[in-house]
Amino acid sequence: MTDPARIGILTVSDRASRGEYEDRGGPAIQTYLEEILTSSWEPVARVVPDETDVVSGAIIELCDVENCCLVITTGGTGPAKRDITPEATEEVCEKMMPGFGELMRQVSLTKVPTAILSRQTAGIRGSSLIVNLPGQPKAIAECLDAVFPAIPYCIDLIKGPYLETNEERIIAFRPKKKKS
Ligand code: MTE
Repeated sequence: MTDPARIGILTVSDRASRGEYEDRGGPAIQTYLEEILTSSWEPVARVVPDETDVVSGAIIELCDVENCCLVITTGGTGPAKRDITPEATEEVCEKMMPGFGELMRQVSLTKVPTAILSRQTAGIRGSSLIVNLPGQPKAIAECLDAVFPAIPYCIDLIKGPYLETNEERIIAFRPKKKKS
């Protein structure tokens, strides 16, 4: 039996990290993944404050030590002074994947006009894909429904585990292999 894929769930919030506020984003991501993934996986959850070094350190740990093939962050993507998640993500990625942010904003704009305030992005570190989501719990399914069809193939391309989805919810698109 193959080992379960490990998926990092990183909540970025000063108040949640101090325990002043219940983390609703992290659990919403976990519930979403439980609903759509049919292959074996396990969550690795962390809650950190909006500090660039702490956020980038947590992403490095989730990728390099915890071997997460996918790290999904929630929060800290907006214009406020302490919103630094996209910068912390970019700092630790070897490649940025701007299409993720573009598509999530486009889809989110059909729900809320303030979607343009999110600077959410995505990138690759080693064999891990990092994807930023806004902090609003309802934004989680809105954004992941848009980009998840491309995530399993992205993870194939960076030599991560083979993720399978519940096709009634999300169809993972994998281009057919060319005959050699
Ligand atoms: N995207 C979706 N799908 N749904 C939302 O409710 N909220 C927006 C935006 N993107 C939202 C969304 C708002 S109000 C803000 S300020 C930005 O995300 C940044 O949120 P963050 O700083 O919590 O990451």
